[in-house]
Amino acid sequence: MRQERELPVKKFDEAASKKADGSEEKVRVLGIMGYPVGHSLSPAMHNAALRHLGLKGVYLPFEVLPGYLEEAVAGIRALGLWGVNVTIPYKEKVLDYLDWLTPQAELIGAVNCIACREGRLEGHNTDGEGFLRSLREEGGFDPEGKEVLVLGAGGAARAIALVLGQSRAQKIVVANRTREKAEELAAQVRRRTAADAAGIGLGSQELASAAFQADLIVQTTPVGMYPHEEPPDWFKPEWFKADTLVYDIIYRPRPTAFLRQAAARGCRTLDGLGMLVFQGALAFSWWTGLDAPAEVMREAALRELGS
Ligand code: ATR
Repeated sequence: MRQERELPVKKFDEAASKKADGSEEKVRVLGIMGYPVGHSLSPAMHNAALRHLGLKGVYLPFEVLPGYLEEAVAGIRALGLWGVNVTIPYKEKVLDYLDWLTPQAELIGAVNCIACREGRLEGHNTDGEGFLRSLREEGGFDPEGKEVLVLGAGGAARAIALVLGQSRAQKIVVANRTREKAEELAAQVRRRTAADAAGIGLGSQELASAAFQADLIVQTTPVGMYPHEEPPDWFKPEWFKADTLVYDIIYRPRPTAFLRQAAARGCRTLDGLGMLVFQGALAFSWWTGLDAPAEVMREAALRELGS
């Protein structure tokens, strides 16, 4: 994180400029910073939420060119933005330019939303919590005491494995193409949470037995994502057993070939739309202090996906 330094503190709450008659005229600006951001569903979701709640605001895509992240983040403070999401490829790099992290962002080591409060740039992460809310509300699944197999060991897998550990999952097996990354993430889960964790490679006998043991399988790699919609060739459909909940964080297409294979074996399945909606709803609430209309956000995302 950046060194503490003297900041010209602008009173953003007061800065909401009042008209002569005392009414408020400031349009609040939210947005998403990433590269690229053209296909993001977040503008549709958040603009629908703003409209639904009658808030005077707009959520915009901000494409931040490589090498300009620091300037873009400084712009949040300089321009008095209400908040921004951060997406690929900046979720980790952005930590260098923030003044404070929430415990969730600290735990995950990545930030997917920023707010500027009294001149202080605060970073938060709602990816893991969004996943957990989807798992609980849509899957009726409580991770406590459960065994989980996480496929992939990238940023999304880290958020998911750590919150599952924090939610008292009993054991988390991380399987990844690059085995060392799986082992690193497993070590981090053991260090930061009470869960037991192990890292394995793909296509191994170990993967088959981890799948047989699992109450929950979470697919976090990009394999199967539009336009390359083939299922992973390193996971055999016969490894699914019927009482396992199978979650694929991909939401394009819905469902993925991986989920179709799981459903054909009798598994309950969930796709990534719920995680997307709830990470957005949690960010919206964190910025605004209001209850986010998650169903309105889901409908907006679905409309956008369909178009
Ligand atoms: P995200 O932020 O979406 O998690 P990421 O951090 O780039 O993205 O991580 C992508 C994950 O998908 C990694 O675990 C990657 O495996 P490696 O660590 O070996 O690179 C995994 N992945 C990507 N393409 C894959 C493929 N074709 N087969 C298996 N795993 C793949």
